[in-house]
Amino acid sequence: MKNLAVLVSGNGSNLQAILDAEAKQQLSAHVRLVISNVDGVHALERARAANVETLVLPHRSFATREAYDDALGQALRSANIDFVALAGFMRIVSSRLLEAFPSRVINIHPSLLPAFPGLHAQRQALEHGVKVSGCTVHFVDVGCDSGAIIAQAAVPVLDGDDEAALTARILVEEHRLFPRALQLFAEGRIELEGRQVRVRNG
Ligand code: GRF
Repeated sequence: MKNLAVLVSGNGSNLQAILDAEAKQQLSAHVRLVISNVDGVHALERARAANVETLVLPHRSFATREAYDDALGQALRSANIDFVALAGFMRIVSSRLLEAFPSRVINIHPSLLPAFPGLHAQRQALEHGVKVSGCTVHFVDVGCDSGAIIAQAAVPVLDGDDEAALTARILVEEHRLFPRALQLFAEGRIELEGRQVRVRNG
């Protein structure tokens, strides 16, 4: 069974969906470690409630992004981590971490990429007036939300939606999509060729 680390910064509802999927045996990977760059966040409580080891690694304690990512890499290696999920981890990761875990760092983003990368994706979608938005699971590369796309789910943008309403509707799909995509990876069914991700039949 592959060891998965989940990196978080906040509420951790996606982490919860991943933990629930493992508990329901819908994810054949073990969440071995949860790392947060912020202390005191709800995601850490969720990890502890599931008896998962936690580590708080505050980015402010490190002089450079590279030094931070070296520390992350070290923690991941000493926990024998095979692949990494970024679940609301509000940090750009550097090539240092990606070289240590090539094509093994996976992120979820609350828009249909390549539309609306970066912060406040739901607000960007509302401001642009799109009628459909959604979420994207993708491999992480050195850019911002620019890596190869593994899976996407669409949701409608409804008249009268505010940021909170659209965020909530997208989150429902995130909680379905992310564990499923991680399961495809855990099963070794994902092939990456350049920007193209192909899913082999199970
Ligand atoms: C999600 O919308 C995710 O797509 C984005 O950050 C948010 C994290 O939410 N990257 P949560 O902490 O998993 O509840």
